[in-house]
Amino acid sequence: MTTSRNAAPFEAQTLSSAGHIPVMLAEVLAALRPADGQTYVDATFGAGGYTRAILEAADCKVLALDRDPSAISAAAPLIAEFTGRLDVIEARFATIAEIVRNRLAATPGANSIAFPSPDGVVFDIGVSSMQLDEAERGFSFQTDGPLDMRMGQAAGALSEGAGPSAADVINETPESDLADIFYQLGEERRSRAIAAAIVRRRAEQPFSRTRDLASVVAAVPGTHRPDGKHPATRVFQALRIWVNDELGELARGLLAAEAILSPGGRLVVVTFHSLEDRIVKRFMAERSGRTTGTSRHLPSGGVAKREPSFRLVNSKSLSPSKEETATNPRSRSARLRWVERTAAPPWDEDFAAFDLPDVLALR
Ligand SMILES: C[S@@+](CC[C@H](N)C(=O)[O-])C[C@H]1O[C@@H](n2cnc3c(N)ncnc32)[C@H](O)[C@@H]1O
Repeated sequence: MTTSRNAAPFEAQTLSSAGHIPVMLAEVLAALRPADGQTYVDATFGAGGYTRAILEAADCKVLALDRDPSAISAAAPLIAEFTGRLDVIEARFATIAEIVRNRLAATPGANSIAFPSPDGVVFDIGVSSMQLDEAERGFSFQTDGPLDMRMGQAAGALSEGAGPSAADVINETPESDLADIFYQLGEERRSRAIAAAIVRRRAEQPFSRTRDLASVVAAVPGTHRPDGKHPATRVFQALRIWVNDELGELARGLLAAEAILSPGGRLVVVTFHSLEDRIVKRFMAERSGRTTGTSRHLPSGGVAKREPSFRLVNSKSLSPSKEETATNPRSRSARLRWVERTAAPPWDEDFAAFDLPDVLALR
C-alpha cells in the first residue's frame, strides 16, 4: 500500500541554489503522484528542482540523469541530503533504458542503489537557466561567448556523444543544409538569405563567437521581428536543437520510458516549443490508441491495431498559471502532458511515428 502526499503549491517554488526555477512544479507533481516505496526517473536533473520536490513529496527513490557534466557535479549536496534514495548519473536519453536495466540488476548494498522498475519518468525538456545564463556555454546572443551550445560540454569536460559545437556546424555545414536547419528547426522565414550571409562571411573569417554570429544574422534584411525579439532568436534556437539533437533525443527518451515504466507508472513531459510538443502529443495519442498505431510485424504481413501501451489521463496539455508566467517569464511557453503506462508490451521502436523534421536525416 502506498500513500501520496500533497503536491507543493506554486508559492513553494523557489529558485534553486544553482539559479533555475523549476517550471510547473506543482502540476508536474500532481501528474506524477509520487508515493511511498516507489521509484522515479528524473531524466532531466538540471538543478534538481523536480528531483528534490519528488523526494520531499514521498518516501521514494529517484534515479536522475543529465547529459551536462556540470549538472552532475553540482548534485553532490542533494545526493548527500537524500542518502540511499537518490542517484544522479551523467547520461543522455538514448541510454536511459540501458541504465535502468543495469540498476534493476544491481545488488542492493553494492556501490550503487538498486532501482526497481520505475513508477514514473519525468522529462523537463530543453536548457536550464544555468546553461542559458553562462556566457561560456555559448547559448546566448545577449552575452558574448564561444559559439558552442553543447549541453554535454561544460568547464572543459566533454561528455560522450557531445558531438560537434555550434561553431563547427556554422563553419562546415553546406549552405542549403544550414538553411534547412534554420527553417525546419527555427521556423526562420529568412533562412536562405541568412545561410547565404553566413557562408559569405565564413569564407573570409570562420565564426567563433556568439555575438559575431548574432550580428551577421541581424544584418540580413527582413530579420527584424515585429515582436521585438532579437533577429537571431530563431537561428539560435535551431542551432541549439541541431547541435544537441534535441528532437531525436526526445523521441529516444519517450521510447525508453515506454520500455521501462511499470504498469500504472506515469510518463510526464514538459516541453518549451511547438516542435517538441508535437512529438510528445503524437507519441501519446498513438500509443494510447487515439490515432492508428499499427504493427508492421504480423505473420500475415498485414497491419493490425496494437494494444495501447499508454492510457491518456488528460487529452489536453496544461500551460503554466498566470502567476507563474508573471514570476518566471521563462515558463511562458511550457506545455505539460502526461500518460499512464498500461500492462501491454512496448510497441516497435518506429521513428516514422514521430514525423520528425526531414532535416534530421542529415545527421
Ligand atoms: C530545463 S532543465 C531541467 C531542470 C530541472 N527540472 C530542475 O527543476 O532543475 C533541462 C536539463 O535537461 C538536460 N538535458 C537536455 N537534453 C538531455 C538529454 N538528451 N539527455 C540528458 N539530459 C538532457 C539539460 O542538460 C538540462 O540540465
